[in-house]
Amino acid sequence: MKPAQTPEIVAATPDNVSRAVQRLRSGELIGLPTETVYGLAADASDATAVARIFAAKGRPADHPLIVHVTSADAAKAWAAEWPDAAAKLAAAFWPGPMTLIVKRASHVLDAVTGGQDTVGLRVPSHPAAQSLLREFAGDGSAPAGVAAPSANQFGQVSPTTAQHVAEEFPQQALLVLDGGASEVGVESTIVDVSGPQPRVLRPGRVRTGDIERVLGAPLGSATGDVPRVSGALASHYAPRTQTLMLAEPRLRMQLRAFRNAKAAQPMRCVITHSFDAEPMERLRTIRLAADAQTWEYELYALLRQLDQERYGTLIVETPPETPEWDAVNDRLRRATHGSSLDEA
Ligand code: TXA
Ligand code: MG
Repeated sequence: MKPAQTPEIVAATPDNVSRAVQRLRSGELIGLPTETVYGLAADASDATAVARIFAAKGRPADHPLIVHVTSADAAKAWAAEWPDAAAKLAAAFWPGPMTLIVKRASHVLDAVTGGQDTVGLRVPSHPAAQSLLREFAGDGSAPAGVAAPSANQFGQVSPTTAQHVAEEFPQQALLVLDGGASEVGVESTIVDVSGPQPRVLRPGRVRTGDIERVLGAPLGSATGDVPRVSGALASHYAPRTQTLMLAEPRLRMQLRAFRNAKAAQPMRCVITHSFDAEPMERLRTIRLAADAQTWEYELYALLRQLDQERYGTLIVETPPETPEWDAVNDRLRRATHGSSLDEA
């Protein structure tokens, strides 16, 4: 019998980075560590390799991919226009957790852009991603880019460790570079600079206020003719466990109701930031520091772990509504989409 294909996790040493580059050059996929989340990466100029990403993820073909490059100069080779806003944001935030949407250059594959006239570009800061991209680019004479969505099955929570990537693709002969736990923990901030007024399509670690300070102008609103952003599907980053958000007063009431319930209760888990939930039977309590960066770092790994522990319900204390918490609130709204307290 043919041995089953499984992912291979390797430390991101120079030798293994070279192996990964060879894989990319021969049209294969690799697991790529970045500072935001892990990517499922392919040569962005190889249509067959890009098609493998969509097949492996079960992702609809019209959801565009981000192209990862070594520098802002390298990014320009993928763009038809490099507006002033792109130049300012690239100078301020690259390498780092920001993706810029610009008009695409004519060589960019339709498979990468989902047939749109724009392309998403990012220069990641993770040292392993940087060395891989530099080696892949070679002498830089031709545009070299690595297309990489988050390395999860379509609609699932993004991976923040090499082990998560292996769990998402258990049947793939995938080389996964292990670069440790992703230091940001949520996907990049996406800023669309392809239109008259820049706007944020997906909140991330780079905050709206910081972007506006660099641009010296307010951002537009992301409503109206929003381009296709798969992360914009209402219930995109969904864990399997029923997940609810409750503000502190209602959460305390709910906890009292659990305590007073007479009938046998399913096992539940609660995550808070402003108070310690009182311990009780059939309830696991977790308190995270009331700090947006801590939540960004912990959230996906925690959702993934709690999914495996199979709670009946996970209840998350609603975070503050300040801009600092935009990315956390955005991901939690998607994770809790369609769940209501009545079923708790
Ligand atoms: O942090 C990240 O951005 C990670 C790491 C691996 O770089 N990547 C990531 O890729 O989150 P993905 O494919 O899971 O999410 C990228 C989002 C998708 O929602 C996609 O629709 C959107 O970016 N996107 C890509 N190109 C676009 C375009 N031309 N216009 C609008 N949205 C675009
Ligand atoms: Mg994704």
